[in-house]
Amino acid sequence: MAAKIIDGSEIARKVRTEIAAEVAELKGKGVTPGLAVILVGDNQASQTYVKMKEKACEELGMHSVMAKYPSSLSQQELLNKITELNEDNTIHGILVQLPLPNHIDEKAIIEAISPEKDVDGFHPINIGRLMTGQDTLYPCTPYGVMVMLQYIGCEIEGKHVVVVGRSNIVGKPVGQLFLNENATVTYCHSKTKDLKSFTTQADILVVAVGRNDTITAEHVKQGAVVIDVGMNRNEEGKLCGDVSFDEVKQVASYITPVPKGVGPMTITMLMHNTLKAAKKSAK
Ligand code: GUN
Repeated sequence: MAAKIIDGSEIARKVRTEIAAEVAELKGKGVTPGLAVILVGDNQASQTYVKMKEKACEELGMHSVMAKYPSSLSQQELLNKITELNEDNTIHGILVQLPLPNHIDEKAIIEAISPEKDVDGFHPINIGRLMTGQDTLYPCTPYGVMVMLQYIGCEIEGKHVVVVGRSNIVGKPVGQLFLNENATVTYCHSKTKDLKSFTTQADILVVAVGRNDTITAEHVKQGAVVIDVGMNRNEEGKLCGDVSFDEVKQVASYITPVPKGVGPMTITMLMHNTLKAAKKSAK
């Protein structure tokens, strides 16, 4: 039987409705959640993402500030802007859109953001809190994956989760979130030998490598849940993930499509994190 499709757009819509209600409630207490997004340079994809974030804030009743700079901005100027936003009481979340121009040290920028306003969940303090099982601001895409699984009623405790990909943004933190939920976690990556021998053991397979057709039907155990975090373009220019969707859906029990799978969850969880940071600051 073909897999059930996990509809990320529908789940994102439901979560956003809940967030909007909480934003309204918080506004009633005199606090409007505020997000600042900083964009440096003219990367086309980044410009699109930033616009989507601005639109999401507007739809959910949040305050947003978009700061756009030319790629000639110096690292010190960017650090100064972050200091200003760290001290701004109307701003609860700060996001610096990545990638940054080569002359700016990404690590120094991430570390300059106050951990309490780090709605990307990239600051080493927040990563450390995640690693030690503390409640904190979690990276948005990994957190979105967990919310999707919760939504479909997928049990995690005791399951074998195989994560393909070890990026700081997705692979590493998503594995840690699963570990915190008592799953058994295996990480695979570009240097893994005999990938199939690991992926066919997965009850839940999460793929985040950025290369289409990395996972085909022969990589997947019958009835597995397959989460595709990839966002690529195939030879025809069509958006696709890392999983060969048409064949893997014949083997899996649940599968996320691309587009309209994990993608819509990322900005939704950014909104969730901004609300969470605002609620904490209001306490
Ligand atoms: N560029 C691509 N994805 C992301 C993200 O999740 N956060 C930031 N800040 N930049 C990105």
